[in-house]
Amino acid sequence: MTWSDYQGEIYRRGREDGTLPLWACNMLELEQRAIDTLDSAARGYIAASAGNGRTARANRDAFEDWAITPRMLRGVSAPDTSTVIHGRSLPAPLALAPVGVQSLAHPDAEQATARAAQSTGIPYSHSLAATVSFEEIALAAPASTRWAQLYWIRDPETVSSFLARAASAGFDTLILTVDTPVLGWRPTDLDRAFLPFAEGIGIANYTSDAGYMSRARATITTEGADIAPRYWERVFPHASLDWAEAATLRSMWDGTLLIKGIQHPDDAQRGLDVGFDGIIVSNHGGRQIDSAIGSLRALPAIRTAVGPDVPILFDSGLRTGVDLFTAIALGANAGMLGRAFLYGLALGGEEGVEHVIRSVMSEFELTMMLAGAHTVADITPELLSRVDPGPHGGRERRE
Ligand SMILES: Cc1cc2nc3c(=O)[nH]c(=O)nc-3n(C[C@H](O)[C@H](O)[C@H](O)COP(=O)(O)O)c2cc1C
Repeated sequence: MTWSDYQGEIYRRGREDGTLPLWACNMLELEQRAIDTLDSAARGYIAASAGNGRTARANRDAFEDWAITPRMLRGVSAPDTSTVIHGRSLPAPLALAPVGVQSLAHPDAEQATARAAQSTGIPYSHSLAATVSFEEIALAAPASTRWAQLYWIRDPETVSSFLARAASAGFDTLILTVDTPVLGWRPTDLDRAFLPFAEGIGIANYTSDAGYMSRARATITTEGADIAPRYWERVFPHASLDWAEAATLRSMWDGTLLIKGIQHPDDAQRGLDVGFDGIIVSNHGGRQIDSAIGSLRALPAIRTAVGPDVPILFDSGLRTGVDLFTAIALGANAGMLGRAFLYGLALGGEEGVEHVIRSVMSEFELTMMLAGAHTVADITPELLSRVDPGPHGGRERRE
């Protein structure tokens, strides 16, 4: 089985009994169709970004800076899409990014996503802001490769408990997200005064934590049934978190430790200095700062700063197999899908997520064959050309 068998499967089903794919094979078209099906609060929370949306647009526009210059007759009949991240072999240079509150997209939520990750062999990252707990994910997808994401809240006992629970539920990698010392200014959510967590949506990891709940009861004495979200408002987030405190995480976690939300080469280096094993280059999909650098534009300098051997994952704006190819050529070891898989979830639950993963990976594998790359390591900047941005420069031309 190769990833691009999906292409043959789609053509064969059409030929044999006229069955067409349930969802679009163009991921940008799929995105638009999914957005159209969401109710307005979910659409606002998922699709919209910080401020005027400039960072989110810059994330997509950054891919337009580059084009593939394919090489011919290299005899790539069986491309090897596998990659190694901190000693662990993965079947594809792809993982699912931690995305909270997935019940806004589909009632099967994170469990469906984890099952799709399991069936395709792609790592699933469990957001701390999920609508089900670490343990429920382990039950739903026991054979999945599971990564846990942490927001470092102002309740150290709960942080320690999250780490212990994640480790015993089989999560082998911890992602510390550092780009959210506060929530960004998100006008679409503000216009509706919609913050899911404050309404008790997306705090399942907290409400399933006995220590958190007993501290919530001890602290919030006036709010009846709402104690869990009210206590959440007290402890989230942790704006004073600094490098010294982040460094203490190394002694609290035995597995692989990744730092997510890095955009500057010095921060990448600092992360390694304080004990992280790898970097996730990300700007949270443009949900935090308006008018920030497009994430792909930040990637090459970070690779140069940390050298060839440090694992770098990339997200923010990644939608297609060609995007993944481009990010790898610019220095990533793997890409992470965020909204891209969430739109598949919105349209078709577990099968929708599978469709997105298989479509992205099919296109990626076909692109390896078409561009002349036998292995992921063969995907280098020599296979890219910079596109002349024209007289008005990069993204400015579209604004
Ligand atoms: C609805 C939504 C919820 C998210 N929740 C989290 C989260 O809980 N933790 C986290 O580290 N990142 C979170 N992210 C950011 C993603 O991990 C990822 O960085 C982002 O989606 C990448 O941008 P893209 O979706 O435009 O590709 C969230 C993103 C979205 C769209």
